[in-house]
Amino acid sequence: MAGSRPKDSESTTGRLWWRDGVVYQIYPRSFQDSKGDGIGDLEGIRRRLDHLEWLGVDAIWLSPCFPSPMADFGYDVSDYCDIDPMFGSLDDFDRLLADAHGRGIRILLDWVPCHTSDQHPWFQEARKDKESDKRDWFFFRDAKPDGSLPNNWLSIFGGPAWEWDEEAGQYYLHSFLKEQPDLNWRSPGLVSAMHGVLRFWLDRGVDGFRIDVIHRLLKHPELRDLPVIPGREGHGYGGLEHVHDENHPDVHASLRDLRKVIDEYDERMTVGEVYVTDPNITKDYYGKGDELNLAFNFALVHAPFDAARIGDEIARFDALVPAEGWPDIVLSSHDAPRHASRFDHPRFGDDRARLAAMLLLTARGTPFLYYGEEIGMRQIPIPEDRLQDPLAWTLHPNASRDGSRTPMQWEPVAGGGFSEGDPWLPMGDSERRCVADQREDPASLLWLYKNLLTLRRASPALMSGSFRRLEAPEGVFAFERLHPEQRAVVALNFGEDPITLDLGGGAPIGGLTTTYGAFLPPDLSSVELTEASGLVALTGASSGA
Ligand code: NOJ
Repeated sequence: MAGSRPKDSESTTGRLWWRDGVVYQIYPRSFQDSKGDGIGDLEGIRRRLDHLEWLGVDAIWLSPCFPSPMADFGYDVSDYCDIDPMFGSLDDFDRLLADAHGRGIRILLDWVPCHTSDQHPWFQEARKDKESDKRDWFFFRDAKPDGSLPNNWLSIFGGPAWEWDEEAGQYYLHSFLKEQPDLNWRSPGLVSAMHGVLRFWLDRGVDGFRIDVIHRLLKHPELRDLPVIPGREGHGYGGLEHVHDENHPDVHASLRDLRKVIDEYDERMTVGEVYVTDPNITKDYYGKGDELNLAFNFALVHAPFDAARIGDEIARFDALVPAEGWPDIVLSSHDAPRHASRFDHPRFGDDRARLAAMLLLTARGTPFLYYGEEIGMRQIPIPEDRLQDPLAWTLHPNASRDGSRTPMQWEPVAGGGFSEGDPWLPMGDSERRCVADQREDPASLLWLYKNLLTLRRASPALMSGSFRRLEAPEGVFAFERLHPEQRAVVALNFGEDPITLDLGGGAPIGGLTTTYGAFLPPDLSSVELTEASGLVALTGASSGA
């Protein structure tokens, strides 16, 4: 089938969407409900495309919307080639894709290749029948001769990674919930079925995939025991050295095969969730430009609001990403507390979120925005009786990710304009913070996002210029983005006091400050920045040091 394709392409615009553009993550349950059941859906997303087009994003990444028992809210897939009725139908998906493409907005799906749902027909067949070719698509193992579990691996979501299955008469491996059995990527049948899944969506016109926990795709072939970190006995998952259950070197050959499938199609891409803290490992997932197009750099999701630390992380990843690759920047996601809350300070209101927006949209790499961050949505406290995330039970109520997954705050009315029913998670205070109000206010965070996106789209230096860190006083992170046609300098004052700095001279020909109404300085040799504020200034390529 010839699926919908966007009207623009690199050959017509000179702009490659996933490298030069900006991606916006949508958690489908929480974006817009069109049916009144309190849960967001695809038609709801389609009705809100005006907002995304106005904002100026290039692509949306949809967290999983495939059929699922929702044990892990869609990251437990029971059919990779359909849409969960809760979110709509394949027709709804095609409509959304066509509408988005008509506006030049691409769509990334969230592909979950490391595990299925225990309700997936593949697993159902495998557990029933030892002779089935699907048996080897999962990891079924006997106990050790002494009756203990097949190995000492633990689940990231708590407890052992092995579950006894009465029907199978064996244990099976699950790196996450017991409802999410791991898939065996050493089984050729599974590999070709999964490549078929990718082609199914690519043929439909999908622009690419965010790939779930890609660093766990392949395990040690013998599923060897993990060494215990000396002194950390009894510390559960964090007490083990994860040398055989993640980042196995064989993952790279699988990724190269996968890339070949993606490259059968034009202008498609993958971005992989390499959930490790060491960027030296993350960078390997780019291969020689023949593995992932982008590997998420999560360093900033864990970094405090600190100029030196954030500057170091940006500079480190920038230097590590291979020449054939391209960095990316992420501050928030459905798995982590929202950065507006992480960075919050009673003295500064939205100022720190404004500074973070400038960082995200001016550093070198593809920015990933998480829905709601454009209006500064904060973590919403969830009463215990409304917790939804399974981690609240398998780990601890504080481990729940619900607080960053609450419904989008659209309008200053009850239900927030998100739903006419009871929202599946508590709404934040949309009367105090919502899209409609911020659209009316040119000083709002929403307008700063829009203005930064507009500036970025028109600036070759911000889209594709090189990165160089600039000398700056303590508390300030400053850098230059240099392009043959243009230079951009960015200075971000993370400190609690105003500061004056020298950014190498030159008169700005354009730019923005995070403080509404503040002017760009006439010359970059003397730049004043109030506390928790920043500036981006564009000059001719030859200006400055
Ligand atoms: C990573 C996803 O981002 C997270 O939400 C999910 O719970 C795990 N993978 C398991 O699929």
